[in-house]
Amino acid sequence: MLRCFLLDFIRYLLILKFMSQELSSTRQSRDSSRKAPPTIIVIFGASGDLTARKLLPGLYNLGFDDLLSDDFHLIGYGRSEMSDEAFRQSMGDAIGKHSRRPLNEEIWGQMSSNLHYHAGPYDAPDSFDRLSQRISAIESSIGTETQCLFYVSTPPSVFKPILENLGDSGLARRHRHTPASSKVVIEKPFGRDLSSAQELNAIINRRFDESQVYRIDHYLGKETVQSLLVQRFANSIFEPIWNRRYVSCVQVTVAETIGVGSRGGYYDRSGALRDMVQNHVMQLLALTAMEPPSSLDPEAIRDEKVKALRAIRPLDLDGDDSDVVRALYKEGLVGGEKAIGYLQEEGIPEDSSTETYTAIRLYLDNWRWKGVPFYLRSGKCMSRKASEITVQFSRPPAILFGEGNRFDISPNSLVIRIQPNEGVTLTLNSKKPGLATKLQPVELSFGYDTTFGSDTPEAYERLILDAMNGDGTLFIRGDETETSWSLLTPVLEHWAGSGTKGLGTYAAGTWGPLDADKLLIRNGHEWQVSGT
Ligand code: NDP
Ligand code: BG6
Repeated sequence: MLRCFLLDFIRYLLILKFMSQELSSTRQSRDSSRKAPPTIIVIFGASGDLTARKLLPGLYNLGFDDLLSDDFHLIGYGRSEMSDEAFRQSMGDAIGKHSRRPLNEEIWGQMSSNLHYHAGPYDAPDSFDRLSQRISAIESSIGTETQCLFYVSTPPSVFKPILENLGDSGLARRHRHTPASSKVVIEKPFGRDLSSAQELNAIINRRFDESQVYRIDHYLGKETVQSLLVQRFANSIFEPIWNRRYVSCVQVTVAETIGVGSRGGYYDRSGALRDMVQNHVMQLLALTAMEPPSSLDPEAIRDEKVKALRAIRPLDLDGDDSDVVRALYKEGLVGGEKAIGYLQEEGIPEDSSTETYTAIRLYLDNWRWKGVPFYLRSGKCMSRKASEITVQFSRPPAILFGEGNRFDISPNSLVIRIQPNEGVTLTLNSKKPGLATKLQPVELSFGYDTTFGSDTPEAYERLILDAMNGDGTLFIRGDETETSWSLLTPVLEHWAGSGTKGLGTYAAGTWGPLDADKLLIRNGHEWQVSGT
C-alpha cells in the first residue's frame, strides 16, 4: 500500500517537473537574441479597441515567450479617468478574451505589476510634463537610462497634438546623445490623401529623426507577408520567371466577409481605397513587384519598394475603360447569413457614396513589368475571407496534346495565400489518367498549418517587438506612404467630383460588381481566388 502510494507520488512529481519544464522550454524556445531591451511603452488611446484586442494581447504573448525585459513597463494614456488597478484589471480581461494563448496567472501577475495608467488630454502640455515626470520616476526605479516607445493608437484627429506635445515636452528626444532612445509608433490611417500625409510627415520630421519613426501597417507583420520575401529571394526557381517574359498578370485580392459593423463613423469617411488599398494592398503589391534588395537592411528593402511604387503609371480615370472600379454592398447573404446593405448600417448616411469595394488595374513602367497588368481588389461583405497574391504565368503555346485541348491549356499560377489557410499553391497541368490525352490542372500545395503547426505569432507581436528592437524593416517609410498616396489621391479627387456617378453596387456575399470583371476581360484575364 505504502509502496503504491510512494510510486504514485513520485510519478506525480515527475509529471509536475515535466510540465514546468514544458512551460519554461516553450517560453524560452523563441529566439532569445530577439529579446527586447528595457523599455517603457506609452500607449496613447489605451482605453480603445485596438489596445484591448491587439496591443495588450500581443505584449502578453511576448511576455509569455520571455521576449520582454524584466524592466518592461507600460503606461496607458487616455482622457478617461482610471486607476492603475482598474487599468490592470481591464487589460487582464482583454487578454483573457483576445490572446491567442490563455492567460497564465503567474506570467500576467509579473507583467501587470508594471502597468500604469496616466489620465490626461492629448492637447495639454502640462499633462505631457507630468507624463515625463512619471517616466523619469520609473526610469529611476529601473536604475538605468531606458528607451521609451510612444505608441499612438488614437483616432487620427489627435495624432497631431500628441506628436507636437511629444516634441515640445522633450519626450521625443529624452536622451539627447541617443535619439533612438525615444521611438514613436504611429497607427494607420497615415493621412487622408497626399497633402495630409505630407503634413503629418512634416510634423513628425520636425520632432523625430526618421530612424525613430515606425509607421504601422499590420499586414507587414503577418507571417505570410514576411515569408513572401523568402519565397521570392531564397528560391532560385522563381526569379528567372518573375517578369514580363513569363508572367501574364498579377492579382492581389484582400476580401473580407465582415461589413463595417460598429465602425461606420470611421469607415464612411474612409472607404475601401483609404482603409485597405493605400496601405495593405499597395504593400503587398510592392513586395511582389520590387527588385531584389542588395541586403536585408531595412533601408535597402524600403528603397526597392519605393522604386516599384514609383514605377506605377498614373491611372486612367476617365471613360468607359477606366482603370478603377468602385461599389458599395447592398443586402445579401454572407456565409448563409442575412446581411444588411451598407446604407442601412449604423452611422452611415442614407445618401453615402463611400465605396466598400474597389478594384484597380495598373501597370509598372519598368524593365521587369512593362505591359504586365496588376489587378488589385479589396472589399467588405464579400463571398469569402481571402487575402492572396496570384502570379499568373503565360499560357504555353497550344501546339501539342490534341485538338480538344487547344484552348484548354490553363496557365500555370502561383498563389500565395496570406490568410486564411496560409500557404502557397503552384498550379500545373497534368495528364488525366486514361487512354486519351486529356489535360487537367493539378496543385502542388504547401500549408503553414500542416508544415509548421499553428502556433504563429500575431502580426502585432512581431511589429511591437521589432520596434522595441529598433528594426524598421516591416514599417513604412515616409516616402513610401507619400508615393502610394500620390498614385491614389487623383482617384479620390475624381470620385469626390463625381458624386455617385460610376459608383456600382454588389450584393453582400458576392465577389463584387460585374464592372470589376470588365477590368480584366480586355486582357483576356479573369479574377482568380484559390478554392473556387
Ligand atoms: P478607438 O476609437 O477605440 O479610440 C482609441 C481611444 O482614443 C479611445 O478609447 C479614446 O480614449 C480616444 N479617443 C477616441 N475618440 C477620440 C477623439 N475624437 N478625440 C480624442 N480621443 C479620442 O480607436 P481604436 O483603438 O479602434 O484605433 C486606434 C488606432 O488604431 C486608430 O488610428 C485606428 O485607425 C487604428 N487601427 C485600429 C484597428 C482596430 O481594429 N481597432 C485596426 C487597424 C488600425 P480616451 O477617451 O480615454 O482618451
Ligand atoms: C484594418 C482595416 O486595417 O484591417 C479594417 O481598418 C480591416 O477595416 C482590417 O477589417 C483587416 O485586417 P485583417 O488582419 O483582419 O485582414
